[in-house]
Amino acid sequence: MLIEMKNSALSQIGQRTPEPPISWLMQTALTRPRLISLAAGFTDNPSLPVAETRAVLNQILRSPKTGQSALQYGSTAGDPALRRLTAQHLQKLDGAHGENYPPERLLITSGSQQLLYMTAEALCDEGDIVFVEDPTYFVYLSILQSRGPRARGVRLERDGLDLAHLEKILTSLKRSGELRRVKLLYLVSYFQNPTGVTTSFEKKRGILKLLKQFERAAGHPIYLLEDAAYRELRFETVAAVCDRRFSDGMTNIRRSQTAATSYGEKSALAVPGAAERVIYAGTFTKPFATGARVGYGILPEPLFTTTRHIKGNHDFGTANLLQQLLARALASGAYAKQVARLQKRYAHKARVMKLALEKHFPSAVEWWEPAGGLYFWARLPKHIPTGVKSKVFQTALKNDVLYVPGELCYADDPARRKPNHEIRISFGNASEAEIREGIKRLGNVLKKFYDLPNL
Ligand SMILES: Cc1ncc(COP(=O)(O)O)c(C=O)c1O
Repeated sequence: MLIEMKNSALSQIGQRTPEPPISWLMQTALTRPRLISLAAGFTDNPSLPVAETRAVLNQILRSPKTGQSALQYGSTAGDPALRRLTAQHLQKLDGAHGENYPPERLLITSGSQQLLYMTAEALCDEGDIVFVEDPTYFVYLSILQSRGPRARGVRLERDGLDLAHLEKILTSLKRSGELRRVKLLYLVSYFQNPTGVTTSFEKKRGILKLLKQFERAAGHPIYLLEDAAYRELRFETVAAVCDRRFSDGMTNIRRSQTAATSYGEKSALAVPGAAERVIYAGTFTKPFATGARVGYGILPEPLFTTTRHIKGNHDFGTANLLQQLLARALASGAYAKQVARLQKRYAHKARVMKLALEKHFPSAVEWWEPAGGLYFWARLPKHIPTGVKSKVFQTALKNDVLYVPGELCYADDPARRKPNHEIRISFGNASEAEIREGIKRLGNVLKKFYDLPNL
């Protein structure tokens, strides 16, 4: 018989960890077959590399020698060949030389999600402060809520983080004596989840400069955690984006800058002298196969060693078979082919969504068109809430269409009222027909609410 107890045996962390919204959104998408989910970030089913993965796995399992080593435990830091290939891959993406991409400080993780969690564990105590973009990746907010640091939102502009706002917050924390609680700034730098915004290389340099400037008063390093999850899912070459924007007359990017630098092509690892303060989180899930949860991070010391120790406690190593799959895919060129295929595929799906938005959304809804990633971000007039309890969300659900309410992507920051009139819509998983139908349903729901003055 169960005895009623007065107190819970759950730890503080256990008690402040409710079901993350991501689990609920994914579960809802999976269990309602009629529902069109434009919400959780599943990727495009038909482009998952089934045949390529089968071929690589066959190679691995062809001989007892390669098969047995792949089916055995590996090391905590990861497969040496994959660490070396990943470091080379990153260096190539940055078009950079050398020492900022050392395989010895590269940790293979179970999705980049694990790295995000472990770095919070390694750096943050309850009550510490983490800067996030306002809005940001909502699953990261769940990590912070569970681990206990406070999130402070830094305003986001169309070309990335608002440096003046960051400086203002740092200055006010210095004044109030709280700077020592600031441990890191979390930045989703390419085609951000949820807004699609890319933070330019110049801004990354500016962020690092500012953080450094305030370190003396903090009394310890303040890190930049660059989450580059969507980096390789770009639709167009950087040059094409810049040229198009020039011809539109919409941009202030100067032609004299190299295109790669001006559009945030390089990571913060490429900022001279920055390696000591940059944690780079990357992933092979979005650009290859989301079900093969292999991610990675480059971390400065002593954080690398501590995080490796923490990973030792978590799982003492990412699934070896999956690591070998990725290593072979990278080495053989299968990975690069898959990325190129996905870029084309998502460019097409983004276009389908754009056309549907133009056709079905009320013109008063402002939406941002991304140049990569998986998301559109739409902003309704302020008096129309979109949160989970709102009439818009509930009516959308009744009409079998799901989006991510914008409010989930904002930190509980006492410095401002949480916006709740935005939505994130993804073209990742839905088919073209579903995108058209889903946006039509959502557009019809929104039209219903447009005439109502106050909800
Ligand atoms: C911004 C961002 N970072 C990290 C992740 C985690 O990805 P994974 O663990 O599959 O590498 C996601 C997944 O959606 C994401 O959107």
